[in-house]
Amino acid sequence: MMKVRATDAAKPTAAEAKEQQAQSSSSGGPISTLKKIFAPTGGSTDPGRAIQYGKGTLDVTDLDPSPTEQFHKWFQEAIDAKVYQPETVTLSTASLPDGKVSARIVFMKELDDRGFVVYSNWETSNKSRDIESNPQAALTFWWHELERQVRVEGHVERLSAAESQVYYNTRIRGSRIGAWASPQSQVLNSREALEQKVKDVEKRFEGQEEIPVPPFWGGLRILPEMVEFWQGRQSRLHDRFRYTKVGEEWKIDRLSP
Ligand SMILES: Cc1cc2nc3c(=O)[nH]c(=O)nc-3n(C[C@H](O)[C@H](O)[C@H](O)COP(=O)(O)O)c2cc1C
Repeated sequence: MMKVRATDAAKPTAAEAKEQQAQSSSSGGPISTLKKIFAPTGGSTDPGRAIQYGKGTLDVTDLDPSPTEQFHKWFQEAIDAKVYQPETVTLSTASLPDGKVSARIVFMKELDDRGFVVYSNWETSNKSRDIESNPQAALTFWWHELERQVRVEGHVERLSAAESQVYYNTRIRGSRIGAWASPQSQVLNSREALEQKVKDVEKRFEGQEEIPVPPFWGGLRILPEMVEFWQGRQSRLHDRFRYTKVGEEWKIDRLSP
């Protein structure tokens, strides 16, 4: 079993060392607010310079009039470029009236002309609390191998139990059981407590091939109102195109990086 251990403080990079020197000389000695990380270069072999993006370009003539078609095209290119799990996406939500924002990584599991679908717990998770008071969300994909980002913003709607059941049935039995057993994001007293819940659910569905999708679990569709396609370029002068929904049409604008 993997155990994670905190390591000793990492050796400062050249830029960090310079910054630390500047901070101590200007204050007359080391100060408690020394930056732990400063201007990391993203693994560049040139210690003074950040990695530059230059794998591609994006022009309005490359774009499909429909953002979901354009996304589909880029998703296929991500698969072809062997991007690791291109369906991995940050889902951001916010609760009202306090306006607190929360974000987490999920998997996008479906795309159609209506929008992007993710699956989760809609009773106990933080995202469910947010969506209840504010049915809007943002998705952020980052495909490092292609130096591409896609951002999606829009209203959300829950999928019906029948629709969710279709995807749920594709999951391995352990994951189907797990969805029933885990009141997601609630405090657990121990790992054993979780494993006991799993055993209880296994017993409940023993000998039963088909398991019904839990009523508190299922799909959430993000209906896009804004979709942005971002291609990294040199000197941070990236290509960005934003689709905005105007009635039933999509308006496309190039944005300043
Ligand atoms: C790569 C990856 C994929 C994940 N996929 C999902 C997912 O599809 N659905 C989900 O509910 N949680 C997924 N999680 C877990 C979430 O990040 C998060 O821990 C969980 O949804 C609870 O978040 P919340 O309480 O903020 O809603 C994934 C985490 C990682 C790192």
